[in-house]
This record gives sequence, structure tokens and C-alpha cells, in this order.
Amino acid sequence: MTYRIAPSILSADFARLGEEVKNVIAAGADIIHFDVMDNHYVPNLTIGPLVCDAIRPWTDAPIDVHLMVKPVDRIIPDFAKAGANIITFHPEASEHIDRSLGLIKESGCKAGLVFNPATPLHYLDYVMDKIDMILLMSVNPGYGGQSFIAETLVKARQARALIDAYTAKTGREIWLEIDGGVKVDNIAACAAAGVDTFVAGSAIYGQPDYKTVIDQMRAELAK
Ligand code: DX5
Ligand code: ZN
Repeated sequence: MTYRIAPSILSADFARLGEEVKNVIAAGADIIHFDVMDNHYVPNLTIGPLVCDAIRPWTDAPIDVHLMVKPVDRIIPDFAKAGANIITFHPEASEHIDRSLGLIKESGCKAGLVFNPATPLHYLDYVMDKIDMILLMSVNPGYGGQSFIAETLVKARQARALIDAYTAKTGREIWLEIDGGVKVDNIAACAAAGVDTFVAGSAIYGQPDYKTVIDQMRAELAK
């Protein structure tokens, strides 16, 4: 299994965002997780396409844009133009899920659906061919630094089974990402439940030495 570590820049120093992106990739991270909150779908307000565009020159690593916005569709082309590589959205926030996925793919990005802790996986039923990633929220979206909701591991096992059955049939890979409260002490449990891509905000950016935390996470994943 290839594991990917995706620091969430929500917990980075926004006044030095370019450097924060560069430093965390230099410390061994694989992907930049970019949390977009609109004070409407979620009760917080963060960053948009202009900021994505501003950090784009600071790294070659993929930028994984997690849209916590409603409506979804009109912001998709702006993020694609701003250099996003992966765009995910919450199915409850889209009027037409298949159309939103199509817009992401047409824009040249990888596409994914995000599942809140209590959102069922059945939204995947007819769209697996259009999905490159499934993102499971292990907190309710809106804030960094919340506690991991352990029931998400049950859902991770279900999602892993769906992905494995799909890959066996089609040969096409789908990533399984988890987001919220991921730390050194629970990353191995997430991997055991089938997760391959790990978002961590406060666990990484909350520490002075990013490399130490990322190394510890990789050591847990190698066990
Ligand atoms: C929450 C965001 C997460 C958040 C994770 O709505 O989607 O990406 O930044 O932060 P931690 O790792 O601190 O829970
Ligand atoms: Zn996120």
C-alpha cells in the first residue's frame, strides 16, 4: 500500500503560507490539503482560489482542495485555474452530484466526494467511475483541532471494501482519504481500516518540527 500524508494548511501560519507549504513538503509530506470554508455550508470562513493561486508556485506537490461550500459548481473552474490537482465536495452541498463531478473532471482535476461522519456511503452508488478519491470526515467539518470520531473507522472499512471490489473489476485505483483529528497515535488504526491518504492539520502544523511528526507517522504506518 502506498501511503500519502496530506498536511492541512488550515493550521499553518497564514501570514507565511508559501513558506509553510514549502517547508511541510520538504519535511516529507506528499500532498497539500486546502480547506475551503464558506460560512454557509460550514460555520467558518477560510481561503479561496486567490490563495490557491498564490501558493501554487511554492510547491510541485498536488494541491487537494476540500470544498466545504454551497453551492459547489461555480467555484470549481476557479480552483482548476488556480492550480488545484484534486477537488472534493460534500454531496449534500451539491444540487446535482453527477454534474459537479463532471465539472471537476472537465476542468482537468481529479474528483472526489466527502462524507461527513453521519453521511451514508450510498452517494457513491452510481458515480464510482467518476471518482478518484473518497474523503471520509472523522470530525464534523468546520474547524481544525477537533477530536477523532472513532466510528469513522467502521465506515473506512466499508469504503475500502467498495474500492477493492471496484478496482478488482475495473483495474482503476481510487484513493481513500481521512480528515479530522488524525495524529501519530491513531494513524495506524486508520491504515488498518483501509485508509491510504491521511490529512493532518494541527498534528503537524501544531508542532515546531514538521519532519519529526511526519517521520513518526511514517514509522506508525510501517509497523
Ligand atoms: C475540518 C477540515 C480539516 C482540518 C483538519 O473541517 O476539513 O482538514 O483542517 O484539522 P485537524 O487535523 O487539526 O483535525
Ligand atoms: Zn479538510
